Amino acid sequence: MARPKIALIGAGQIGGTLAHLTAMKELGDVVLFDIAEGTPQGKALDIAQSGPSEGFDASMKGTNDYADIAGADVCIVTAGVPRKPGMSRDDLLGINLKVMKAVGEGLKAHAPNAFVICITNPLDAMVWALREFSGLPHNKVVGMAGVLDSARFRHFLSLEFGVSMRDVTAFVLGGHGDTMVPLSRYSTVAGVPLPDLVKMGWTTQEKLDAIIQRTRDGGAEIVGLLKTGSAFYAPATSAIEMAEAYLKDQKRVLPCAAYVKGAFGLDGIYVGVPTVIGAGGVERLVEISLNPDENAMFQKSVDSVKGLVAACKGIDPSLA
Ligand code: APR
Repeated sequence: MARPKIALIGAGQIGGTLAHLTAMKELGDVVLFDIAEGTPQGKALDIAQSGPSEGFDASMKGTNDYADIAGADVCIVTAGVPRKPGMSRDDLLGINLKVMKAVGEGLKAHAPNAFVICITNPLDAMVWALREFSGLPHNKVVGMAGVLDSARFRHFLSLEFGVSMRDVTAFVLGGHGDTMVPLSRYSTVAGVPLPDLVKMGWTTQEKLDAIIQRTRDGGAEIVGLLKTGSAFYAPATSAIEMAEAYLKDQKRVLPCAAYVKGAFGLDGIYVGVPTVIGAGGVERLVEISLNPDENAMFQKSVDSVKGLVAACKGIDPSLA
């Protein structure tokens, strides 16, 4: 059976890491696309030459031609610009919206059956715009944010508790931005919810609140340290987890920026919610119940995403 075809749109920091991870995990053959001439070709050649040592079977092709992504099974989109220190994700909107238009048209023409994972920021608005421009089904276009945000939360919690990250589960809802909603009640160490761990004396509410804030600021912390760009190892790894769930029909329960119409009282918006990802793409949303405080935070996050979508419509009237 032929290997799956994985198209990576954007061959920058995240795109290159995605290509390397795809090969190391032997998820399929890679086509790395970028508008910068030489970048995708150079990265593809470099990664292919790591194959003999690592022993993977995956082909690597770098290209500036959308025709090369034809028939892709999965497309992961990182095309666009990242943040610099002092910028919010929302500051990227105008530039990256134009990029989503070009990418959406490329997907529509060459890879209409792909499962598309968008990483470009501001994430929730960009995945919405990419879906609009591409015309692909909503269940096949999804944004990567919640897996990364919950991974950051899990990492900080595992440090606080001195336990393996594998035994920490974490739940994050809402938009990928300052209004994201880390949910303590649904986050656990081996099934024990965080509020119970506070009662057991494993941590204090103050420390937990500081960890939640650090999770919200997780991307900015790395931008501040790197100074020349934003995080790329963990974002790439998170998207690969989603791609693998689709390719292997794993039915993973993963928080993603998915299209929500009806559930959570929402009327057709992309925002971070728990989903089931399998061969059907986003197969199901997990409509957890929220208490009044959680719901208020979630609605605030939804309102901020709505504001960004309205700004997109203002910039590009074809989206209105
Ligand atoms: N089509 C294809 N590629 C493009 C386009 C376009 N229209 N415009 C820009 N690119 C490419 C750039 O040439 C660059 O190689 O996108 C790549 C982006 O790579 P980086 O600048 O290294 O950014 P990266 O760190 O990979 O982040 C990409 O993901 O997390 C988000 O906020 C981040 O929006 C940013 C995106």
